[in-house]
Amino acid sequence: MKLNSPIQIGKRVCKNRIVMPPLVCFNWADEEGLETVSREEHYGKRNATGLIVVEAAGISKESRIVDTELGIWDDKHIKQYERIAKACHKEDALVIVQIVHAGIKAYPDQVYTSSYKEALNKEVLELNQDQIETIKKHFVNSALLAKEAGLDGVEVHGAHGYLLSQFTSPQANHRSDAYGGSTENRYKLSLDIVKDIRQATGDDFIISYRFGVNDPFFEDDIKGIKLLEQAGVDVFNVSSGIGIKSLDIPSDYPESFITYMGYKMKEHTNKPVISVYGILRPEQAEYLIENDYTDMVAVGRGLLADPKWTEKALNKKEVNICFHCKRCQFVVDGHKCPQKS
Ligand SMILES: Cc1cc2nc3c(=O)[nH]c(=O)nc-3n(C[C@H](O)[C@H](O)[C@H](O)COP(=O)(O)O)c2cc1C
Repeated sequence: MKLNSPIQIGKRVCKNRIVMPPLVCFNWADEEGLETVSREEHYGKRNATGLIVVEAAGISKESRIVDTELGIWDDKHIKQYERIAKACHKEDALVIVQIVHAGIKAYPDQVYTSSYKEALNKEVLELNQDQIETIKKHFVNSALLAKEAGLDGVEVHGAHGYLLSQFTSPQANHRSDAYGGSTENRYKLSLDIVKDIRQATGDDFIISYRFGVNDPFFEDDIKGIKLLEQAGVDVFNVSSGIGIKSLDIPSDYPESFITYMGYKMKEHTNKPVISVYGILRPEQAEYLIENDYTDMVAVGRGLLADPKWTEKALNKKEVNICFHCKRCQFVVDGHKCPQKS
């Protein structure tokens, strides 16, 4: 395969193998989850990319990581995604939005019981059944709003220590009910959400799952990815879970262990896998795709440092390289990446 080989995702065809992973534009939204800076241009400029995953958006006001994160819980949010969808569809990019509940990591203190609370030093409670049902409904509502806005799908955030990751990880989940204990039980909330979204949105709607691998047992991930595939996930965007626990990787593998996690997961699912982390140069992306280490490559900071990264990579031109100044993660000088052209 080549970087520009099309790939089937669910019922849709993606024009190439390059993905823009979700990247929060910090402070570009207000408390109501409405954008304060238009994202039409931000995403539109990158629409040569095959699949664009719009940054994390809260399924409810209180589910967000910060109070200036995008929202997707109300009709009032539809317009902002309509604009993004149009800008990306102009060049036939597929575009989906990541939907998230941050759990204990949400900005007002949240609920959840686990050893995880020590790490975050927060007081926590166990979600009760009614609260769990409400959260499932919120996820489905967000997916329906995304569909109404004309997006091609959603990505359910199951990684990085947010709510679903807190449920799937035995390090955090100490529940003794149907949502705790066995792998099947710990994945139940994610599985229910995926099934409910599929049921509500139909077959022609992409469901991606951001999968937190090795959290901490790889054997658990293998079961989990199979269960999620059966539940209706179309594509897996593989990243880390609560903590980053390294895998042993062969000494001749030249890329990051997080991309290697993607490779290991690819062996256990029939659905396309997206690998991520530190892919800054087109040669790295080509190496991973051409050697079948992954189905798709996500280029995060690379695409922030160079909005034309995808065109340049596909046309063998030099790209601007991210030099890890972290201005995209922390608000420095009004959040400007000095590499952006
Ligand atoms: C500024 C910034 C914002 C991010 N926002 C999100 C997010 O909304 N959701 C998510 O799952 N990951 C998020 N990430 C992680 C990226 O999706 C990606 O996994 C990470 O940047 C590694 O890829 P890279 O080395 O190509 O940048 C963010 C990363 C950065 C740098």
